[in-house]
Amino acid sequence: MVYTLAPTRSGRPHAVLDIPDGHFPLELEGAMPAIRELYRRAKSAEWNPATDIPWDLLDTSKYTSDELFAARQYWSRRAWSEYGAIAESPALLLRFAKEHREPELSLFWTIRTQEEIRHADVCRRMADALGGYLPEPVTKDLEESVATHGVRGMSFDADTPLEALFASLICCAEVIAFDVFRALIKTTTDPVAKQILQLIFRDEVRHCEFGWKYMEYRLPNLSSEDLSAVRDKVVWMMEDVELKGYHSTWLSPTPDISEMETDRLVYEAGLGATVEEVEKPVIVESVQGMRERMREWGIEVPLFEHPKMGTF
Ligand SMILES: [Fe+2]
Ligand SMILES: [Fe+2]
Repeated sequence: MVYTLAPTRSGRPHAVLDIPDGHFPLELEGAMPAIRELYRRAKSAEWNPATDIPWDLLDTSKYTSDELFAARQYWSRRAWSEYGAIAESPALLLRFAKEHREPELSLFWTIRTQEEIRHADVCRRMADALGGYLPEPVTKDLEESVATHGVRGMSFDADTPLEALFASLICCAEVIAFDVFRALIKTTTDPVAKQILQLIFRDEVRHCEFGWKYMEYRLPNLSSEDLSAVRDKVVWMMEDVELKGYHSTWLSPTPDISEMETDRLVYEAGLGATVEEVEKPVIVESVQGMRERMREWGIEVPLFEHPKMGTF
């Protein structure tokens, strides 16, 4: 496979876009059977938010009006963050084409985008079923923190190797979210909420596998400079995104108290959401697991510090 990587140190944030278009040679017969297999699995595991959820089992009379309003906010927020994943997708897809990467990347990524659409759709439907989807945050200040983590902006940055984006976006952020999700399924008792989370989880397994598999495939070709860019981006994702509260407001230096209260209400009602004491040990373990796996790549992920998490 020959790559047409954008020249690094161009000093121009969108240098990837300057690579001339060119698809040939286009080898469609698998350089990466493992990713092709994920693509095949994704196609056969499709589900429909309208018909594959037992919507009539949702009994809103079991919940107080405060719980229902909190759950509407929670599920709307889920829809916004799933939408964020849809919005970053085309930028990366364009980068795969510009850099003439393996076609399996584009095949899988396209299905992954459809899956994120499904997730946004099902979360919006759940918010509606609970009384109504909210098209924007109740607290205006939250708008920025739920908007984007900056990956879209970096997608065309030649100084950020694609592998650094994958390692930080998938192997770090998406894997932590996935581990928290597993805990979320356990504590959610509402049968409809649980079913939705289980179906999303089934898709997310593949999203995480994809990241690790692609990194393993690329590893022999990465220079020490590439590896240090990977490490820097993972550290950035942890320190400037995750530990600043991108996924969990309680981690933010200025946590949104009303969002924390909302989450607790939803969590205690069994309608979804996780809270600080549930997430903390999961994040610690998830980061430890990531550190061990990345050590196999020759990358030493440092310890992190956070006033509520300590050193971990
Ligand atoms: Fe998703
Ligand atoms: Fe995902």
